[in-house]
Amino acid sequence: MLTEEMLASIKKVEATRQARLGMDLRKMTADEKDALLKEYHPDYKDAGFETLHVGPNKGEKVPSELRHLLEGTSRVLGKDIDLENPKYDVDVLIIGGGGAGSSAAIEAFNAGANTMIVTKLRIGDANTMMAEGGIQAADKPNDSPAIHYVDALGGGHFCNKPELLKKLVCDAPGAIKWLNDLGVMFDKEEDGTMVTTHGGGTSRKRMHACKDYSGAEIMRVLRDEVWNLGIPVVDYTAAIELIKDENGKVAGAVLQNMETNELYVAKAKTVIIATGGAGRLHYQGFPTSNHYGATADGLILGYRAGAPLLYADTIQYHPTGVAYPSQIFGALVTEKVRSLGALLVNVDGEAFMNPLETRDVTASSIIRECSTRGKGVPTPGGGYGVWLDTPMIEMIHGEGAIEKRIPAMLRMYLQYGIDMRKEPILVYPTLHYQNGGLKIAANGMTDVENLFVAGEAVGGIHGRNRLMGNSLLDIIVFGRNAGQNAAKAAKETTVGKLTLSHVDAFQKELDDAGIESDCVSPKLLPDYTRKVNQ
Ligand code: FUM
Repeated sequence: MLTEEMLASIKKVEATRQARLGMDLRKMTADEKDALLKEYHPDYKDAGFETLHVGPNKGEKVPSELRHLLEGTSRVLGKDIDLENPKYDVDVLIIGGGGAGSSAAIEAFNAGANTMIVTKLRIGDANTMMAEGGIQAADKPNDSPAIHYVDALGGGHFCNKPELLKKLVCDAPGAIKWLNDLGVMFDKEEDGTMVTTHGGGTSRKRMHACKDYSGAEIMRVLRDEVWNLGIPVVDYTAAIELIKDENGKVAGAVLQNMETNELYVAKAKTVIIATGGAGRLHYQGFPTSNHYGATADGLILGYRAGAPLLYADTIQYHPTGVAYPSQIFGALVTEKVRSLGALLVNVDGEAFMNPLETRDVTASSIIRECSTRGKGVPTPGGGYGVWLDTPMIEMIHGEGAIEKRIPAMLRMYLQYGIDMRKEPILVYPTLHYQNGGLKIAANGMTDVENLFVAGEAVGGIHGRNRLMGNSLLDIIVFGRNAGQNAAKAAKETTVGKLTLSHVDAFQKELDDAGIESDCVSPKLLPDYTRKVNQ
Protein backbone atom coordinates (compact mmCIF):
# COMPACT_ATOMS: atom_id res chain seq x y z
CA MET A 1 0.00 0.00 0.00
CA LEU A 2 1.18 3.49 -0.81
CA THR A 3 2.10 5.37 2.37
CA GLU A 4 0.73 8.81 3.29
CA GLU A 5 4.15 10.25 2.42
CA MET A 6 4.10 8.64 -1.03
CA LEU A 7 0.58 9.90 -1.68
CA ALA A 8 1.57 13.43 -0.66
CA SER A 9 4.57 13.28 -2.97
CA ILE A 10 2.43 12.03 -5.87
CA LYS A 11 0.26 15.14 -5.42
CA LYS A 12 3.37 17.29 -5.94
CA VAL A 13 4.33 15.26 -9.02
CA GLU A 14 0.84 15.81 -10.46
CA ALA A 15 0.92 19.51 -9.67
CA THR A 16 4.20 20.05 -11.55
CA ARG A 17 3.52 17.69 -14.48
CA GLN A 18 2.10 20.16 -16.99
CA ALA A 19 5.01 22.57 -16.49
CA ARG A 20 7.47 19.75 -17.08
CA LEU A 21 6.15 18.96 -20.55
CA GLY A 22 8.65 20.13 -23.17
CA MET A 23 11.12 21.07 -20.44
CA ASP A 24 14.66 21.33 -21.80
CA LEU A 25 16.82 19.57 -19.25
CA ARG A 26 20.47 20.19 -20.00
CA LYS A 27 22.95 17.36 -20.06
CA MET A 28 25.84 17.41 -17.58
CA THR A 29 29.33 18.50 -18.54
CA ALA A 30 32.12 15.92 -18.57
CA ASP A 31 33.52 17.34 -15.33
CA GLU A 32 30.13 17.22 -13.61
CA LYS A 33 29.71 13.60 -14.67
CA ASP A 34 33.16 12.61 -13.44
CA ALA A 35 32.57 14.19 -10.04
CA LEU A 36 29.14 12.59 -9.75
CA LEU A 37 30.41 9.11 -10.64
CA LYS A 38 33.32 9.26 -8.22
CA GLU A 39 31.06 10.29 -5.37
CA TYR A 40 28.03 8.09 -5.96
CA HIS A 41 28.59 5.22 -8.41
CA PRO A 42 28.99 1.83 -6.67
CA ASP A 43 32.05 1.06 -8.84
CA TYR A 44 33.89 3.69 -6.79
CA LYS A 45 32.99 2.23 -3.39
CA ASP A 46 36.26 0.60 -2.32
CA ALA A 47 34.50 -1.50 0.33
CA GLY A 48 32.74 -3.44 -2.44
CA PHE A 49 35.97 -4.74 -3.97
CA GLU A 50 38.85 -7.10 -3.17
CA THR A 51 42.17 -7.80 -4.82
CA LEU A 52 42.86 -11.08 -6.61
CA HIS A 53 45.75 -13.10 -5.15
CA VAL A 54 46.18 -15.59 -8.01
CA GLY A 55 45.54 -16.12 -11.69
CA PRO A 56 46.02 -13.97 -14.78
CA ASN A 57 44.62 -10.84 -13.12
CA LYS A 58 46.52 -11.19 -9.85
CA GLY A 59 46.80 -7.81 -8.14
CA GLU A 60 43.65 -6.37 -9.77
CA LYS A 61 40.45 -5.57 -7.90
CA VAL A 62 37.11 -7.20 -8.63
CA PRO A 63 33.80 -7.18 -6.71
CA SER A 64 34.27 -9.07 -3.42
CA GLU A 65 31.61 -11.66 -4.24
CA LEU A 66 33.35 -12.43 -7.53
CA ARG A 67 36.79 -12.61 -5.87
CA HIS A 68 35.46 -15.29 -3.51
CA LEU A 69 34.22 -17.37 -6.42
CA LEU A 70 37.31 -16.88 -8.58
CA GLU A 71 39.44 -18.02 -5.66
CA GLY A 72 37.00 -20.70 -4.51
CA THR A 73 37.42 -24.46 -4.56
CA SER A 74 36.72 -26.33 -7.79
CA ARG A 75 33.75 -28.69 -7.80
CA VAL A 76 35.91 -31.37 -9.47
CA LEU A 77 38.68 -31.45 -6.87
CA GLY A 78 38.87 -34.86 -5.24
CA LYS A 79 36.33 -36.33 -7.68
CA ASP A 80 37.07 -39.38 -9.77
CA ILE A 81 36.38 -38.20 -13.30
CA ASP A 82 36.78 -40.65 -16.17
CA LEU A 83 38.31 -38.47 -18.87
CA GLU A 84 38.97 -41.51 -21.06
CA ASN A 85 35.30 -42.26 -21.71
CA PRO A 86 33.45 -39.07 -22.54
CA LYS A 87 29.65 -39.20 -22.63
CA TYR A 88 29.64 -36.61 -25.42
CA ASP A 89 32.15 -36.02 -28.21
CA VAL A 90 31.46 -32.99 -30.43
CA ASP A 91 33.22 -30.40 -32.54
CA VAL A 92 31.81 -27.29 -30.83
CA LEU A 93 30.52 -27.34 -27.26
CA ILE A 94 28.49 -24.28 -26.26
CA ILE A 95 28.00 -23.58 -22.56
CA GLY A 96 24.88 -21.50 -22.09
CA GLY A 97 21.46 -21.42 -23.74
CA GLY A 98 20.74 -17.70 -24.02
CA GLY A 99 20.89 -15.43 -27.04
CA ALA A 100 24.66 -15.59 -27.49
CA GLY A 101 24.83 -19.37 -27.07
CA SER A 102 21.93 -19.93 -29.45
CA SER A 103 23.33 -17.56 -32.11
CA ALA A 104 26.69 -19.30 -31.81
CA ALA A 105 25.08 -22.73 -32.12
CA ILE A 106 23.12 -21.77 -35.23
CA GLU A 107 26.24 -20.47 -36.99
CA ALA A 108 28.50 -23.34 -35.90
CA PHE A 109 25.89 -25.85 -37.05
CA ASN A 110 25.42 -24.05 -40.36
CA ALA A 111 29.21 -24.15 -40.85
CA GLY A 112 29.02 -27.94 -40.69
CA ALA A 113 30.24 -28.48 -37.13
CA ASN A 114 28.83 -31.16 -34.87
CA THR A 115 27.46 -28.73 -32.29
CA MET A 116 25.91 -29.14 -28.84
CA ILE A 117 24.52 -26.73 -26.25
CA VAL A 118 24.63 -27.48 -22.52
CA THR A 119 22.70 -25.28 -20.14
CA LYS A 120 22.17 -25.53 -16.40
CA LEU A 121 18.51 -24.51 -16.73
CA ARG A 122 16.61 -24.58 -20.05
CA ILE A 123 17.38 -22.95 -23.38
CA GLY A 124 16.05 -19.41 -23.09
CA ASP A 125 16.44 -19.15 -19.30
CA ALA A 126 18.77 -16.20 -19.75
CA ASN A 127 19.13 -12.45 -19.49
CA THR A 128 18.29 -12.26 -23.21
CA MET A 129 14.76 -13.33 -22.37
CA MET A 130 14.47 -10.51 -19.81
CA ALA A 131 15.73 -7.73 -22.13
CA GLU A 132 13.04 -5.22 -22.85
CA GLY A 133 13.92 -1.97 -24.56
CA GLY A 134 15.61 -2.90 -27.80
CA ILE A 135 18.65 -3.46 -29.94
CA GLN A 136 20.81 -0.77 -31.53
CA ALA A 137 21.86 -0.67 -35.19
CA ALA A 138 22.75 2.29 -37.39
CA ASP A 139 20.58 1.45 -40.39
CA LYS A 140 18.76 4.74 -41.00
CA PRO A 141 19.87 7.38 -43.56
CA ASN A 142 20.81 9.94 -40.88
CA ASP A 143 23.02 7.46 -39.03
CA SER A 144 26.14 5.38 -39.62
CA PRO A 145 28.26 2.75 -37.84
CA ALA A 146 30.83 5.52 -37.28
CA ILE A 147 28.30 7.62 -35.33
CA HIS A 148 27.21 4.53 -33.42
CA TYR A 149 30.90 3.87 -32.64
CA VAL A 150 31.41 7.37 -31.25
CA ASP A 151 28.28 7.17 -29.06
CA ALA A 152 29.29 3.80 -27.59
CA LEU A 153 32.90 4.92 -27.11
CA GLY A 154 31.81 8.02 -25.16
CA GLY A 155 29.35 5.95 -23.10
CA GLY A 156 32.13 3.43 -22.37
CA HIS A 157 34.49 6.16 -21.10
CA PHE A 158 36.77 5.61 -24.13
CA CYS A 159 37.84 2.20 -22.80
CA ASN A 160 36.08 -0.02 -25.36
CA LYS A 161 38.46 -2.33 -27.23
CA PRO A 162 38.52 -0.65 -30.66
CA GLU A 163 38.54 -3.86 -32.72
CA LEU A 164 35.54 -5.25 -30.78
CA LEU A 165 33.55 -2.04 -30.90
CA LYS A 166 34.22 -1.69 -34.63
CA LYS A 167 32.88 -5.19 -35.21
CA LEU A 168 29.85 -4.51 -33.03
CA VAL A 169 28.73 -1.39 -34.90
CA CYS A 170 29.71 -2.50 -38.41
CA ASP A 171 27.91 -5.86 -38.10
CA ALA A 172 24.84 -4.30 -36.44
CA PRO A 173 22.69 -3.63 -39.54
CA GLY A 174 23.40 -7.19 -40.73
CA ALA A 175 22.40 -8.54 -37.31
CA ILE A 176 19.01 -6.81 -37.52
CA LYS A 177 18.48 -8.18 -41.03
CA TRP A 178 19.46 -11.69 -39.88
CA LEU A 179 16.96 -11.55 -37.01
CA ASN A 180 14.25 -10.05 -39.19
CA ASP A 181 14.76 -12.76 -41.81
CA LEU A 182 14.60 -15.44 -39.10
CA GLY A 183 11.21 -14.07 -38.09
CA VAL A 184 11.69 -11.55 -35.26
CA MET A 185 8.65 -9.26 -35.28
CA PHE A 186 10.24 -5.82 -34.95
CA ASP A 187 8.03 -2.76 -34.51
CA LYS A 188 7.46 -1.31 -37.98
CA GLU A 189 5.70 1.65 -39.55
CA GLU A 190 2.88 0.97 -41.98
CA ASP A 191 5.31 1.18 -44.90
CA GLY A 192 7.50 -1.52 -43.34
CA THR A 193 10.35 0.69 -42.10
CA MET A 194 11.58 -0.10 -38.62
CA VAL A 195 10.44 2.12 -35.75
CA THR A 196 13.54 3.41 -33.94
CA THR A 197 13.93 5.44 -30.75
CA HIS A 198 16.66 7.00 -28.63
CA GLY A 199 18.38 5.37 -25.67
CA GLY A 200 20.58 7.02 -23.05
CA GLY A 201 23.71 8.37 -24.72
CA THR A 202 22.58 7.89 -28.33
CA SER A 203 22.82 10.78 -30.75
CA ARG A 204 20.52 9.10 -33.29
CA LYS A 205 17.30 7.10 -32.98
CA ARG A 206 18.67 3.60 -33.62
CA MET A 207 16.90 1.45 -31.02
CA HIS A 208 14.91 -1.28 -32.78
CA ALA A 209 12.34 -2.93 -30.57
CA CYS A 210 9.58 -5.48 -30.31
CA LYS A 211 7.42 -3.34 -28.02
CA ASP A 212 9.08 -3.91 -24.61
CA TYR A 213 9.39 -7.65 -25.15
CA SER A 214 12.44 -7.27 -27.42
CA GLY A 215 14.59 -9.91 -25.72
CA ALA A 216 11.75 -12.39 -25.33
CA GLU A 217 10.86 -12.05 -29.00
CA ILE A 218 14.48 -12.45 -30.12
CA MET A 219 14.97 -15.44 -27.83
CA ARG A 220 11.73 -17.03 -29.08
CA VAL A 221 13.02 -16.95 -32.63
CA LEU A 222 16.58 -18.09 -31.81
CA ARG A 223 15.30 -20.98 -29.72
CA ASP A 224 12.93 -22.05 -32.49
CA GLU A 225 15.82 -21.98 -34.94
CA VAL A 226 18.01 -24.12 -32.67
CA TRP A 227 15.16 -26.62 -32.33
CA ASN A 228 14.30 -26.51 -36.04
CA LEU A 229 17.89 -27.26 -37.00
CA GLY A 230 17.91 -30.18 -34.58
CA ILE A 231 20.90 -28.92 -32.58
CA PRO A 232 21.16 -31.04 -29.42
CA VAL A 233 20.45 -29.12 -26.21
CA VAL A 234 21.37 -30.82 -22.95
CA ASP A 235 19.40 -28.93 -20.34
CA TYR A 236 19.55 -28.90 -16.53
CA THR A 237 23.24 -29.70 -16.97
CA ALA A 238 25.90 -27.28 -15.79
CA ALA A 239 29.49 -27.05 -16.97
CA ILE A 240 31.52 -27.05 -13.77
CA GLU A 241 35.06 -27.05 -15.17
CA LEU A 242 36.78 -26.82 -18.53
CA ILE A 243 38.94 -29.70 -19.70
CA LYS A 244 42.17 -29.16 -21.61
CA ASP A 245 44.23 -31.52 -23.69
CA GLU A 246 47.87 -32.37 -23.11
CA ASN A 247 48.86 -29.52 -25.45
CA GLY A 248 47.11 -26.91 -23.30
CA LYS A 249 44.18 -26.38 -25.67
CA VAL A 250 40.67 -26.31 -24.28
CA ALA A 251 39.07 -29.64 -25.20
CA GLY A 252 35.74 -29.97 -23.42
CA ALA A 253 34.07 -29.62 -20.05
CA VAL A 254 33.04 -31.55 -16.98
CA LEU A 255 29.25 -31.46 -16.74
CA GLN A 256 27.03 -31.87 -13.72
CA ASN A 257 23.41 -32.99 -13.86
CA MET A 258 21.53 -30.39 -11.79
CA GLU A 259 19.06 -32.94 -10.43
CA THR A 260 21.19 -36.00 -9.70
CA ASN A 261 24.61 -34.29 -9.37
CA GLU A 262 26.07 -36.98 -11.65
CA LEU A 263 29.20 -35.87 -13.46
CA TYR A 264 29.83 -36.42 -17.18
CA VAL A 265 32.61 -35.58 -19.57
CA ALA A 266 31.98 -33.70 -22.81
CA LYS A 267 34.93 -33.80 -25.18
CA ALA A 268 35.04 -31.01 -27.79
CA LYS A 269 37.45 -29.56 -30.32
CA THR A 270 36.42 -26.05 -29.32
CA VAL A 271 34.33 -24.59 -26.51
CA ILE A 272 32.28 -21.40 -26.40
CA ILE A 273 31.44 -19.88 -23.02
CA ALA A 274 28.09 -18.07 -23.30
CA THR A 275 27.04 -18.16 -19.67
CA GLY A 276 25.87 -14.55 -19.33
CA GLY A 277 26.03 -12.22 -16.35
CA ALA A 278 26.40 -12.03 -12.60
CA GLY A 279 23.37 -10.17 -11.24
CA ARG A 280 22.49 -12.99 -8.86
CA LEU A 281 25.73 -12.34 -6.99
CA HIS A 282 23.96 -9.17 -5.72
CA TYR A 283 27.09 -7.03 -5.58
CA GLN A 284 27.02 -4.51 -2.73
CA GLY A 285 23.61 -5.81 -1.69
CA PHE A 286 21.81 -4.52 -4.79
CA PRO A 287 18.68 -6.24 -6.10
CA THR A 288 18.90 -7.39 -9.70
CA SER A 289 17.02 -7.39 -12.97
CA ASN A 290 18.82 -10.62 -13.97
CA HIS A 291 17.46 -14.12 -14.42
CA TYR A 292 17.88 -16.79 -11.76
CA GLY A 293 21.00 -18.38 -13.22
CA ALA A 294 23.15 -15.24 -13.60
CA THR A 295 26.02 -16.30 -11.31
CA ALA A 296 29.17 -15.56 -13.37
CA ASP A 297 29.94 -19.27 -13.91
CA GLY A 298 31.77 -18.77 -17.21
CA LEU A 299 34.15 -16.25 -15.66
CA ILE A 300 35.18 -18.82 -13.05
CA LEU A 301 35.72 -21.60 -15.60
CA GLY A 302 37.65 -19.38 -18.01
CA TYR A 303 39.80 -17.80 -15.29
CA ARG A 304 40.85 -21.17 -13.84
CA ALA A 305 41.81 -22.25 -17.35
CA GLY A 306 44.09 -19.23 -17.65
CA ALA A 307 41.94 -16.74 -19.58
CA PRO A 308 42.40 -13.14 -18.37
CA LEU A 309 39.49 -10.91 -17.38
CA LEU A 310 39.04 -7.38 -18.64
CA TYR A 311 37.20 -4.62 -16.70
CA ALA A 312 35.77 -7.10 -14.19
CA ASP A 313 35.69 -4.19 -11.73
CA THR A 314 32.94 -2.35 -13.59
CA ILE A 315 29.28 -3.18 -13.16
CA GLN A 316 26.17 -1.62 -14.63
CA TYR A 317 23.39 -0.56 -12.29
CA HIS A 318 20.31 0.09 -14.39
CA PRO A 319 18.92 3.41 -13.19
CA THR A 320 15.33 2.28 -13.12
CA GLY A 321 14.71 -0.90 -11.20
CA VAL A 322 11.41 -1.25 -9.38
CA ALA A 323 11.61 0.34 -5.91
CA TYR A 324 7.94 -0.31 -5.14
CA PRO A 325 6.01 -2.64 -4.87
CA SER A 326 8.26 -5.01 -2.96
CA GLN A 327 7.03 -8.13 -4.79
CA ILE A 328 8.93 -7.02 -7.91
CA PHE A 329 11.75 -5.17 -6.14
CA GLY A 330 14.71 -4.73 -8.52
CA ALA A 331 12.83 -5.82 -11.67
CA LEU A 332 13.67 -3.89 -14.81
CA VAL A 333 11.73 -0.79 -15.84
CA THR A 334 12.95 -0.39 -19.37
CA GLU A 335 14.87 2.70 -20.43
CA LYS A 336 12.31 2.94 -23.21
CA VAL A 337 9.97 4.48 -20.63
CA ARG A 338 12.37 7.42 -20.46
CA SER A 339 13.00 7.48 -24.18
CA LEU A 340 9.22 7.87 -24.63
CA GLY A 341 9.37 11.01 -22.50
CA ALA A 342 8.81 10.06 -18.83
CA LEU A 343 10.99 12.26 -16.59
CA LEU A 344 12.72 11.35 -13.34
CA VAL A 345 11.20 13.40 -10.55
CA ASN A 346 12.09 13.70 -6.86
CA VAL A 347 9.91 13.74 -3.75
CA ASP A 348 9.05 17.41 -4.33
CA GLY A 349 7.99 16.91 -7.93
CA GLU A 350 11.20 18.39 -9.35
CA ALA A 351 12.83 16.97 -12.50
CA PHE A 352 16.44 16.72 -11.37
CA MET A 353 18.25 15.55 -14.50
CA ASN A 354 18.02 14.85 -18.22
CA PRO A 355 16.69 11.28 -18.18
CA LEU A 356 18.72 10.18 -21.18
CA GLU A 357 22.18 10.60 -19.72
CA THR A 358 24.19 7.37 -19.88
CA ARG A 359 23.24 4.71 -17.34
CA ASP A 360 26.12 5.13 -14.92
CA VAL A 361 25.46 8.87 -14.72
CA THR A 362 21.69 8.45 -14.36
CA ALA A 363 22.03 5.78 -11.66
CA SER A 364 24.51 7.94 -9.73
CA SER A 365 22.24 10.95 -9.98
CA ILE A 366 19.31 8.96 -8.53
CA ILE A 367 21.51 7.66 -5.71
CA ARG A 368 22.60 11.26 -4.95
CA GLU A 369 18.99 12.48 -4.95
CA CYS A 370 18.04 9.73 -2.48
CA SER A 371 21.09 10.13 -0.25
CA THR A 372 22.90 13.42 0.32
CA ARG A 373 20.23 15.58 -1.30
CA GLY A 374 17.52 14.00 0.84
CA LYS A 375 15.04 14.19 -2.03
CA GLY A 376 14.18 10.51 -2.31
CA VAL A 377 10.74 9.07 -1.66
CA PRO A 378 10.76 6.62 1.31
CA THR A 379 9.32 3.19 0.51
CA PRO A 380 7.36 0.99 2.93
CA GLY A 381 10.31 -1.47 2.83
CA GLY A 382 12.73 1.08 4.30
CA GLY A 383 14.45 2.09 1.07
CA TYR A 384 14.14 5.09 -1.21
CA GLY A 385 13.22 5.80 -4.79
CA VAL A 386 12.43 8.57 -7.24
CA TRP A 387 9.39 8.87 -9.46
CA LEU A 388 9.37 8.02 -13.12
CA ASP A 389 6.50 10.20 -14.27
CA THR A 390 4.87 7.79 -16.72
CA PRO A 391 1.58 9.68 -17.30
CA MET A 392 3.72 12.18 -19.28
CA ILE A 393 4.07 9.52 -22.01
CA GLU A 394 0.40 9.65 -22.96
CA MET A 395 0.39 13.46 -22.75
CA ILE A 396 3.21 13.46 -25.33
CA HIS A 397 2.23 10.57 -27.60
CA GLY A 398 -1.53 10.40 -27.02
CA GLU A 399 -3.86 8.01 -25.30
CA GLY A 400 -3.00 4.35 -25.81
CA ALA A 401 0.73 4.96 -26.27
CA ILE A 402 1.70 3.02 -23.14
CA GLU A 403 -0.39 -0.01 -24.05
CA LYS A 404 1.01 0.09 -27.59
CA ARG A 405 4.71 0.73 -26.91
CA ILE A 406 5.39 -0.70 -23.43
CA PRO A 407 2.65 -3.26 -22.73
CA ALA A 408 4.92 -5.45 -20.58
CA MET A 409 5.49 -2.56 -18.17
CA LEU A 410 1.80 -1.74 -18.06
CA ARG A 411 0.89 -5.36 -17.28
CA MET A 412 3.64 -5.79 -14.70
CA TYR A 413 2.37 -2.82 -12.68
CA LEU A 414 -1.34 -3.52 -13.20
CA GLN A 415 -0.82 -6.87 -11.47
CA TYR A 416 -0.14 -4.86 -8.32
CA GLY A 417 -2.94 -2.38 -8.81
CA ILE A 418 -0.73 0.40 -10.19
CA ASP A 419 -1.90 2.01 -13.43
CA MET A 420 1.20 3.73 -14.81
CA ARG A 421 -0.93 5.60 -17.36
CA LYS A 422 -2.44 7.55 -14.47
CA GLU A 423 0.17 7.50 -11.70
CA PRO A 424 3.97 7.68 -11.60
CA ILE A 425 6.07 4.65 -10.66
CA LEU A 426 8.84 4.50 -8.08
CA VAL A 427 12.33 3.42 -9.19
CA TYR A 428 15.87 2.98 -7.88
CA PRO A 429 19.03 1.50 -9.50
CA THR A 430 19.22 -2.29 -9.83
CA LEU A 431 22.17 -4.53 -10.68
CA HIS A 432 21.75 -5.14 -14.40
CA TYR A 433 24.90 -6.00 -16.34
CA GLN A 434 28.57 -6.88 -16.00
CA ASN A 435 30.46 -4.49 -18.24
CA GLY A 436 33.59 -6.60 -17.89
CA GLY A 437 34.30 -10.28 -18.47
CA LEU A 438 36.74 -12.56 -20.25
CA LYS A 439 39.10 -10.86 -22.69
CA ILE A 440 38.72 -11.93 -26.31
CA ALA A 441 40.27 -11.13 -29.68
CA ALA A 442 38.10 -10.02 -32.59
CA ASN A 443 37.58 -13.66 -33.60
CA GLY A 444 36.00 -14.37 -30.20
CA MET A 445 38.89 -16.50 -28.87
CA THR A 446 40.41 -15.90 -25.44
CA ASP A 447 44.14 -16.10 -24.73
CA VAL A 448 43.59 -19.84 -24.19
CA GLU A 449 43.59 -21.74 -27.45
CA ASN A 450 40.19 -23.03 -28.62
CA LEU A 451 38.31 -21.29 -25.81
CA PHE A 452 35.83 -18.77 -27.22
CA VAL A 453 33.45 -16.45 -25.36
CA ALA A 454 30.31 -14.61 -26.46
CA GLY A 455 27.69 -12.39 -24.85
CA GLU A 456 27.74 -10.88 -21.37
CA ALA A 457 30.67 -13.06 -20.28
CA VAL A 458 32.92 -11.01 -22.63
CA GLY A 459 34.76 -7.95 -21.37
CA GLY A 460 35.91 -5.02 -23.48
CA ILE A 461 33.20 -4.46 -26.08
CA HIS A 462 31.44 -1.80 -24.04
CA GLY A 463 34.38 -0.31 -22.16
CA ARG A 464 33.42 0.70 -18.64
CA ASN A 465 29.73 1.39 -19.26
CA ARG A 466 27.41 -0.11 -21.85
CA LEU A 467 24.72 1.83 -23.68
CA MET A 468 21.17 0.48 -23.82
CA GLY A 469 20.53 -1.87 -26.72
CA ASN A 470 24.17 -2.73 -27.31
CA SER A 471 23.84 -5.95 -25.33
CA LEU A 472 21.11 -7.56 -27.42
CA LEU A 473 23.30 -6.47 -30.31
CA ASP A 474 26.52 -7.96 -28.96
CA ILE A 475 24.97 -11.35 -28.21
CA ILE A 476 23.98 -11.61 -31.88
CA VAL A 477 27.15 -10.15 -33.42
CA PHE A 478 29.64 -11.91 -31.13
CA GLY A 479 27.51 -15.04 -30.74
CA ARG A 480 27.48 -15.56 -34.51
CA ASN A 481 31.14 -14.62 -34.75
CA ALA A 482 32.18 -17.12 -32.07
CA GLY A 483 30.08 -19.86 -33.68
CA GLN A 484 31.65 -19.31 -37.08
CA ASN A 485 35.22 -19.11 -35.77
CA ALA A 486 34.86 -22.00 -33.32
CA ALA A 487 33.56 -24.19 -36.15
CA LYS A 488 36.50 -23.15 -38.31
CA ALA A 489 39.04 -23.81 -35.52
CA ALA A 490 37.42 -27.19 -34.83
CA LYS A 491 38.14 -28.24 -38.42
CA GLU A 492 41.84 -27.58 -37.84
CA THR A 493 42.03 -29.25 -34.40
CA THR A 494 42.99 -32.72 -33.29
CA VAL A 495 42.37 -33.24 -29.60
CA GLY A 496 45.16 -34.83 -27.55
CA LYS A 497 44.87 -36.66 -24.22
CA LEU A 498 42.36 -34.96 -21.91
CA THR A 499 43.51 -33.52 -18.59
CA LEU A 500 42.32 -31.45 -15.64
CA SER A 501 45.85 -30.62 -14.53
CA HIS A 502 45.17 -26.87 -14.83
CA VAL A 503 42.63 -27.20 -12.00
CA ASP A 504 45.24 -28.79 -9.74
CA ALA A 505 47.75 -26.13 -10.75
CA PHE A 506 45.29 -23.35 -9.90
CA GLN A 507 44.58 -24.93 -6.51
CA LYS A 508 48.33 -25.10 -5.87
CA GLU A 509 48.57 -21.38 -6.63
CA LEU A 510 45.82 -20.77 -4.06
CA ASP A 511 47.56 -22.97 -1.50
CA ASP A 512 50.89 -21.24 -2.11
CA ALA A 513 49.20 -17.88 -1.62
CA GLY A 514 47.71 -19.09 1.66
CA ILE A 515 44.12 -18.76 0.42
CA GLU A 516 41.75 -21.05 2.26
CA SER A 517 38.22 -20.96 0.99
CA ASP A 518 34.93 -22.38 2.14
CA CYS A 519 33.39 -21.26 -1.14
CA VAL A 520 32.84 -23.88 -3.86
CA SER A 521 32.61 -22.51 -7.37
CA PRO A 522 31.16 -22.02 -9.91
CA LYS A 523 28.11 -21.07 -7.87
CA LEU A 524 25.51 -22.36 -10.40
CA LEU A 525 22.46 -21.03 -8.54
CA PRO A 526 21.88 -18.31 -5.95
CA ASP A 527 21.08 -19.31 -2.39
CA TYR A 528 18.05 -17.48 -1.03
CA THR A 529 17.36 -19.84 1.84
CA ARG A 530 16.89 -18.07 5.15
CA LYS A 531 19.63 -18.99 7.59
CA VAL A 532 18.70 -20.12 11.11
CA ASN A 533 18.38 -17.11 13.49
CA GLN A 534 18.00 -14.75 10.55
O1 FUM B 1 16.23 -0.63 -20.30
C1 FUM B 1 16.27 -1.62 -21.00
O2 FUM B 1 15.33 -1.94 -21.71
C2 FUM B 1 17.49 -2.42 -21.02
C3 FUM B 1 18.14 -2.57 -22.13
C4 FUM B 1 19.55 -2.98 -22.14
O3 FUM B 1 20.11 -3.28 -21.08
O4 FUM B 1 20.15 -2.96 -23.21
